[in-house]
Amino acid sequence: MDEDLEEQRERLLDGWERVAGGWGRQADHSQVAALPVSEWMLAHAAPQPGERVLELAAGPGDTGFMAARMIAPDGVLMCSDATAGMLAVARERAAEHGLKNVEFRQLQLEWIDLPAASVDVALCRWGVMLVIDPAAALRECRRVLKPGGRMALAVWDLPHENPWATLIQRVLVDLGHAEPAPQGGPGMFALSHPGLLEQMLADAGFVEVESDAVAIVRRYRNVTEWIAETLDHSGQFAAVWRTLDSSGRQRLTDRLAETAAEYVSPEGEIELPGSSLVACAQA
Ligand SMILES: C[S@@+](CC[C@H](N)C(=O)[O-])C[C@H]1O[C@@H](n2cnc3c(N)ncnc32)[C@H](O)[C@@H]1O
Repeated sequence: MDEDLEEQRERLLDGWERVAGGWGRQADHSQVAALPVSEWMLAHAAPQPGERVLELAAGPGDTGFMAARMIAPDGVLMCSDATAGMLAVARERAAEHGLKNVEFRQLQLEWIDLPAASVDVALCRWGVMLVIDPAAALRECRRVLKPGGRMALAVWDLPHENPWATLIQRVLVDLGHAEPAPQGGPGMFALSHPGLLEQMLADAGFVEVESDAVAIVRRYRNVTEWIAETLDHSGQFAAVWRTLDSSGRQRLTDRLAETAAEYVSPEGEIELPGSSLVACAQA
């Protein structure tokens, strides 16, 4: 049984490793849509100059980089991710941002290899729901926080609140390119059930839990740009795309355009809505 879980962990992380380069290419565009979520997290966790901040599952690293500016010059951001590829992307982006107060470390959410009570603020945007044991991850986050330290995190809201993600999946299933997503287990919507995140934070020993939902919009000039970003972000979509000949690709493109028609703005852009749950709590 344990061996199976380990295999599953390896497979999930391998999937992230494979898309790291694509996430790097799309990071600036993605951050435009994601900014309100980072802003909520940082307004509530309120990192102070001189504090030590840990970002977990940082991917390209943007939320942590905003915190790095708030804690400068003496505070240090530890930017972490479980995959070497994402950390390489984050390292490059930190240099582009001219940040000097950032350290990088390969860390797993479920076993954070840091001493207890060693950070003031922990941040995790869209990471905790992806691990096999999110309760263990939250306990680990609390363990590494100093007493009174703050954790701010984001997970995805219910599927029907996130057409930006579900439309593509629906089209892939409709065209016979994918099976409906299995229920249960780690994934985008694993912590989307109302009240679950708050309960899990309380169960992990956090207090003063505040939570909200933040609306996001992912904008694309046209369906081609939407597909290009999805090819970079989603290993599953890229694998399907590779198997299709030009008529198959055209059929998929046309179906995506049709499905997104209700979200086309008067200017002709595709504006796909979404909603992220956010929470902040004290250790
Ligand atoms: C959806 S991306 C989010 C990236 C970034 N936080 C953002 O908001 O753009 C998920 C990230 O979690 C990382 N990740 C997945 N499983 C992890 C784990 N068990 N421990 C730490 N990081 C993990 C992936 O490598 C990836 O960078």
